[in-house]
Amino acid sequence: MTLDAVGGRRRYLMCRPTYFAVNYKINPWMDPTAPYDTALAIDQWTHLRETFVDLGHTVEEIDPLPGLPDMVFAANGATVVDGTVLAVQFRDPERADEGPAYRSWFERAGYAVHEAKFVNEGEGDLMLAGDVVLAGTGFRTTHAAHARAQEVLGRPVITLQLVDPRFYHLDTALCVLSGSDGVGPVRIAYLPEAFSPGSQAVLRRLFPDAVIATVADAEVLALNAVSDGSTVVLPVQATGLTAALQARGYRTIGVDMSELRKAGGGPKCCTLELRPGGGADS
Ligand code: ARG
Repeated sequence: MTLDAVGGRRRYLMCRPTYFAVNYKINPWMDPTAPYDTALAIDQWTHLRETFVDLGHTVEEIDPLPGLPDMVFAANGATVVDGTVLAVQFRDPERADEGPAYRSWFERAGYAVHEAKFVNEGEGDLMLAGDVVLAGTGFRTTHAAHARAQEVLGRPVITLQLVDPRFYHLDTALCVLSGSDGVGPVRIAYLPEAFSPGSQAVLRRLFPDAVIATVADAEVLALNAVSDGSTVVLPVQATGLTAALQARGYRTIGVDMSELRKAGGGPKCCTLELRPGGGADS
């Protein structure tokens, strides 16, 4: 497969789901009594990785560790803005050891890493949207972590209150489509019902032309999508959002992440964006 690389070139960090399993429950998607297929998860992940490479993006990999079945969800490993890394601190003990593992990857790669200090699940809840960071709270990342992110990353942080346990990380309820690389206007897609009334009002004010997703979209983790500004990689089951994005002029690529969805994750959860410093944001 070869895809035209028309969006900005991105650099992503991913973690092969070698030890993927669903053997505990920390979100409503997870059922430790249901079957799962690690080999299929690896195939689906490998296809996602190849899709990014075919789009012209660079994919770095962190070694998976046994006993950390959710480590595949690299978006939770850090938040990287302008080459500055804010480390993570997981809410749940089952994922706690992922924090130091990701941290040491960044240190070995030569990044300046700042301590999390509060529960903070990385880019799952802290999403760069143009000049600002949209920050989810209510389930995982705490409000105190938002203030910490603003100090460390030097970007205004806008707190958004998540209210539906199915959409427990911001990246399950909202997707940044374009503008984070400073090219063109900032566009997002989101599910209003996943946010408190006040946060819905904030989103309407900031993004009056946002793509509004439906609950049916969000239930297949449609918003857990990765955009390079022009091509959006999203779950193939997300037919409604796919049509809405195409109507706005985005190219879409559907990927099947059904196995990883059993843990509550989709394409974006598997993908951490490494944004370099020095103003070159692509
Ligand atoms: N089972 C994982 C958890 O509950 C899934 C994480 C998905 N990651 C994400 N960025 N939404 O923490």
